[in-house]
Formats: sequence, C-alpha cells, structure tokens
Amino acid sequence: MNKIAITGKGGVGKTSIAAVLSILFSKEKKVIAVDADPDSNLAASIGFPEPGKIVPISEMKDLISERTEYKNGFFKMNPKVEDIPEKFCPEFNNIRLINMGVMKKGGSGCFCPENALVKTLVGHLLLQRDEVLIMDMPAGIENLSRGTAASVDAILIIVEPDIKSIETARRIQILCKDLKIKKVFAIGNKVTNTDDENYIIENLKDVEILGFICYDNFFRNFKGIISENNISIINQIEKIKLKLGGIQ
Ligand SMILES: Nc1ncnc2c1ncn2[C@@H]1O[C@H](COP(=O)(O)OP(=O)(O)OP(=O)(O)O)[C@@H](O)[C@H]1O
Ligand SMILES: [Mg+2]
Repeated sequence: MNKIAITGKGGVGKTSIAAVLSILFSKEKKVIAVDADPDSNLAASIGFPEPGKIVPISEMKDLISERTEYKNGFFKMNPKVEDIPEKFCPEFNNIRLINMGVMKKGGSGCFCPENALVKTLVGHLLLQRDEVLIMDMPAGIENLSRGTAASVDAILIIVEPDIKSIETARRIQILCKDLKIKKVFAIGNKVTNTDDENYIIENLKDVEILGFICYDNFFRNFKGIISENNISIINQIEKIKLKLGGIQ
C-alpha cells in the first residue's frame, strides 16, 4: 500500500494528516508528497524551508512550453516528465514535494498544455515511481478524477464527528465504487470522546475505519515539528500508518 490519496470535506485535517504520514514514512523510505490542492499548504505543514518560494508545476511556464510545444502550433499531450521531480521539485528530509498548482477546468481548458503536463506527471508518479506517494487532494469530490483515483492503492477519507463531513465521505465512497476502487478507508479526526467515535462508526457503516485521531490544540497549525506536546497525536497517526502497511 504505497500510493495513497487523502480526501474529504474542507478543513477536516487532510493536509495535516498527509504531512504527518509523509514524515513518518520518510523515516524508512523515500516519499513523494503531492500537493494537488490549488490552495497549497502541504509544504509548510511538512516543514519545508521557505514553502512560499516553491513554484507550482502549473506555473512553470518555460518548462510547460518547452515540454509540450510542437513546431506546427499544436501541443504534445504526452510530454516528457521523468526528470521533472529531481530537476524542478524540492527535497527535504527524504521527502520530495510536488506542488501541482491550479488545473484549468472545463471546456477547452481541459486540453491546455498546463493540464497535459500536470496530468502526465501525476500518471508517471503513480505508475512508474516506486517511492511511497502521499497525495493531498483538494476538498470535496470533484477532483477525484478517474485517472488519479484508479491508479492509487488506497483512498483515505478524513471525517470529523459532524454530519457534513460524513455526507461528503459517503459521496466519495459512492464515487469510488463507481470507479471500482476497492481500497477505500476512513479516518476519524478531531474526536473528543468515544461518543464522537461511535457517531462516526454509526454513520459510516460501509467504510472500514482505520483509526481515530483526537482533537488536540497542540496539533493545530502543525508545521512539521514533532515534539513532546504533539507526540500523542503523532502516535495515533503512526498506528494508522502501520495498518496501511499491513494492507495488501
Ligand atoms: N486532530 C486535530 N486537532 C486539532 N486541530 C486539528 C486537528 N486536525 C486538523 N486540525 C486543524 O484543523 C485545521 C484544518 O486542518 P487541515 O488544513 O489539515 O485540513 P484540510 O482538510 O487540509 O483543509 P482544506 O480543505 O482547507 O485543505 C487546521 O487549523 C489544523 O491545524
Ligand atoms: Mg488542505
């Protein structure tokens, strides 16, 4: 289980959990952390130095035109991407960060050079690289595209003990069923007691819940630093990581 997409409603904790999982996996293996949220903050949450200076792939204009352009004015749909992670994406403590940037949506925008490069790169990372890959998805379900979702080994849906995040989780689960993705799991985040855990269990019966993470003020605005203050939350996420490792 080494290519994992993290999804769920806005604000449930996707980025924080993606950051901790990336850090925990990076102690054993090389990790590719993919920030697929245009409102990107995965780099900061992992603790990358100067995260604001990381240029998203979709904004690398020279690279995009160099890789996608044909002389006759049309552009290549399958540009060369193999060297992009090492040449253009920063690495920090065994974690390579790929910031996708903003994908153009709808109509002819789907067939623009930026999207072609980003999509080809995601496909390459998912299918041809053997690092652990953790993908922090944008909130909601629209962005769980057929290509991405079908190529990951597992989808982790983060939920809170609140009905809205559970409804989003159910919609994601239905979408995954349609896409025939079998490994779909939930994580209950920001729980404060066993009532919260039971609420999630009762309302999300068809999804295997991998674990629960407590609400903890010391985990707010996590920026990659593990300390005695937040170690209990980190240990809860470590348990989830071990379960992921055990799933074939
Ligand atoms: N277990 C927790 N205890 C306390 N605060 C938490 C916990 N998990 C996440 N948070 C806080 O909740 C807020 C939202 O978390 P995060 O940014 O990780 O969510 P997200 O799902 O990625 O949000 P978005 O949809 O905006 O990308 C942050 O302030 C974060 O620090
Ligand atoms: Mg986020």
